[in-house]
Amino acid sequence: MLGIMTCIIPIPNETRICNNLSMKGLAFLIFCNIFILSDITIAIDIIPTSQSLYDGDTLVSCGQTFELGFFTPVNSKNRYLGIWYKNIPDIIVWVANRNSPLTDTSGFLKINDKGNILLLNGNGSVFWSTSSSRTWANPIAHLLESGNFVIREWFSNSESYSWQSFDYPCDTLLPGMKLGLSLSTKRSWNLSSWIDDSDPSSGGFTYSLEQHGLPEFVLRKGSKIVYRSGSWDGVQFRGLPELTNNFVINPIFIYNASDVYFTFENIDKSTISRFVVNVSGSLDYLTWNGKQRGWNCIVTMMKDICDNYAECGAYGVCTMNGSLGCKCMKKFTPRSPQDWHNFDPSAGCVRNSPLNCSHGEGFIKLKGLKLPDSPNILVNESVKSAEECKMECLANCSCMAYAATKMSGCITWFGDLTDIREYTEGGQDFYIRLAASELDKQKKDTRLIIIISAALTGMGIVVSALICFLWRWRKKNKEKKKTEEVGTDHNIDNEPSEKCTSSSMLGDNPELPIFDSEKLATATNGFHLSNKLGKGGFGTVYKGKFPNGQEIAVKRLSKSSGQGSEEFMNEVVVISKLQHRNLVKLVGCCIEGEEKMLVYEYLPNKGLDSFLFDPKKQSLLDWRKRFQIIEGIGRGTLYLHRDSRLRVIHRDLKASNILLDEELNPKISDFGMARIFGGNELQADTLRVVGTYGYMSPEYAMDGRFSEKSDVFSFGILLLEIVSGKRNTSFSHHEQHLSLLGYAWKLWNEDNLSALIDPGLSEPCFEEEILRCIHVGLLCVQDFAEDRPTMSIILSMLSEIAPLPLPKQPAFTERQVSSSSDYESRGKSSEAYSMNYISYTDFQGR
Ligand SMILES: *[C@@H]1O[C@H](CO)[C@@H](O)[C@H](O)[C@H]1NC(C)=O
Ligand SMILES: *[C@@H]1O[C@H](CO)[C@@H](O)[C@H](O)[C@H]1NC(C)=O
Repeated sequence: MLGIMTCIIPIPNETRICNNLSMKGLAFLIFCNIFILSDITIAIDIIPTSQSLYDGDTLVSCGQTFELGFFTPVNSKNRYLGIWYKNIPDIIVWVANRNSPLTDTSGFLKINDKGNILLLNGNGSVFWSTSSSRTWANPIAHLLESGNFVIREWFSNSESYSWQSFDYPCDTLLPGMKLGLSLSTKRSWNLSSWIDDSDPSSGGFTYSLEQHGLPEFVLRKGSKIVYRSGSWDGVQFRGLPELTNNFVINPIFIYNASDVYFTFENIDKSTISRFVVNVSGSLDYLTWNGKQRGWNCIVTMMKDICDNYAECGAYGVCTMNGSLGCKCMKKFTPRSPQDWHNFDPSAGCVRNSPLNCSHGEGFIKLKGLKLPDSPNILVNESVKSAEECKMECLANCSCMAYAATKMSGCITWFGDLTDIREYTEGGQDFYIRLAASELDKQKKDTRLIIIISAALTGMGIVVSALICFLWRWRKKNKEKKKTEEVGTDHNIDNEPSEKCTSSSMLGDNPELPIFDSEKLATATNGFHLSNKLGKGGFGTVYKGKFPNGQEIAVKRLSKSSGQGSEEFMNEVVVISKLQHRNLVKLVGCCIEGEEKMLVYEYLPNKGLDSFLFDPKKQSLLDWRKRFQIIEGIGRGTLYLHRDSRLRVIHRDLKASNILLDEELNPKISDFGMARIFGGNELQADTLRVVGTYGYMSPEYAMDGRFSEKSDVFSFGILLLEIVSGKRNTSFSHHEQHLSLLGYAWKLWNEDNLSALIDPGLSEPCFEEEILRCIHVGLLCVQDFAEDRPTMSIILSMLSEIAPLPLPKQPAFTERQVSSSSDYESRGKSSEAYSMNYISYTDFQGR
């Protein structure tokens, strides 16, 4: 086969000419048509109609930056046509046939007479093709130096393309590509992530521009919103302050009658950079560091928990200045104070005084925020004045807020307001509707302050400070009273039956259904072996299904285990009172003589261990997911420790006791060994140590002393396992007899903590967060219980950026060489290695 090769050698400082293969350019270029034989492979950047590009051949852009050809992702057998950086390994920036892979290497690319590119396999089946907007006399496919793969007229000097890959982004936005929509051509440019590293097909996260009121970027997983950038206000996207003042990137926002899109260029044109939506859904802007041969993360869109969509529920404001992250708007209080204080703010906030349209209402101003989301947002560009905008909102009883902007006019919100965050700089102001009574109060308050301060002008500072203090105290008391009032309603439902210690009392617990054993036998197919899910502490767990379709997991206590019945009772009493999104839900129970069973909600995914320690499934847990799991376990544990009435020490936190739901949210299970504390009891001793070796704190394993801090220790181990992807018990560091803890401590001392990070978590934007997690993990596993932080402090440490204290040496860092084999084999041998000592008498705290 004989081919024509076009090779243009760019003149320095004129690299742009690469994109304009022009007759005019000929005079200035060394232009070579080389006739080559097919077995010589020399890089070319075009395919004329007479040619085909076979699997194995590649096109290389003029300046050698990009290469187009066939590739196979890691752990996959499929072949895809894609574009990648020629000199940077493993970064695919575009895939043609992402949803229709070739299964062999027979694929080839050709351009037909009509000027369309076809991707065919050996049998001539078309796997992918373009839809050119016009035909050319001499069409060619050309890989440009920008990374754009285009169809255009050969020897034309215009930049007009009948098709271009830049119009079909995959997960990557290169300089010059657009993200947004064109109203005139009805085209939209969206990014969508790969499913995972081995599968480029779309269907994971999508990032697109949506016009819901004002235009904004929205990240969705399926149809569910995960993140929104905050609205465009005519000048910038306030939710993306990083995309304004920057020495690296020049962001360009176009917003006119026909186009709404974002594009960008690099300030230094030689910078290699890209935006990418990675499989975890984070949108990162990365630049290539040629010296260190790595990507630097310059901007990441979802930086902190406040970027999670509607993190604080309705009327909650997320801030990174407080320990919780969430606070209620002015004049609002948590809807469910108990959940709110247990770090579950999803219920959001409610007004102190409900709205009453007929009694007159008004607005107060909230400053420096991401403009909220609501079911209905209207924009009226003709209304420019703030007063007019206010009147417009006031006139409609269901208008909850307004903002008057210079560029876009009057914005009004209808329905509950969500997804509001506070910015340290930037942000926008809006006005929220309040009952007249709230506004009067505020007015009175201000008047009072003015009077007081006027009266005080002549007095000493001490006196004014005192009054100020009293003022605040009064106000605080008032607020407190209010919270308590709200709290009362909430707590009535959860009033625990104080003497719920016997099975007869269970019958009085209306919230916990009692099933008869026949019903459970039917549901589990007669406890058939094929329904068995696993064997836990004191019994076997079966999958079941009620006639109405509800799926359940039934834990059937082994009849022989006399001790188990105590644990059983304990578990029933404890769990029936606990409800939290990070705890497995108890659906009911069954007690018929010897037969004792617990019925739980069924979770299709197994324990965290089955993901974390499985080389294949490990990759499903990217960093964001792992961090959410860590937080979830933390919140669930805090709930156990700090629930207002019961204080529960789990005593057996470990990876296999953390179940994952369909969305991989963690749920703590197996409270069989949980232990309820009396109100003021801080620590207890037990004669019978239950728990799992490798997760047990030293004071508990050796002396049987347990407290919240022993759960903190187990949490620390879990945290280190999640970050490293390695089991504590079966960890062995070559040549050195170190446990995972010992290894982590060694790395800490060598200032090389990043070596502990699971190599699968190669996400440069999160390295700092990951290292912070390891640091917190080390604080949790300190030898002395009193040095370890409490669960609520741990949660703050994880979400804040304040400096952390230095950890002291953890427990169990030194592993005795002589006993190490024993230690390891025990850890490995059973998933729930319980050390059952002498009988256990005080299972009930009170
Ligand atoms: C909108 O802006 C784009 C890019 O600047 C421009 O090409 C287009 O003509 C503009 N449309 C209108 C209606 O102004
Ligand atoms: C208030 O505004 C909403 C949303 O635009 C609209 O559906 C409703 O009809 C309005 N109500 C009145 C009384 O104007």
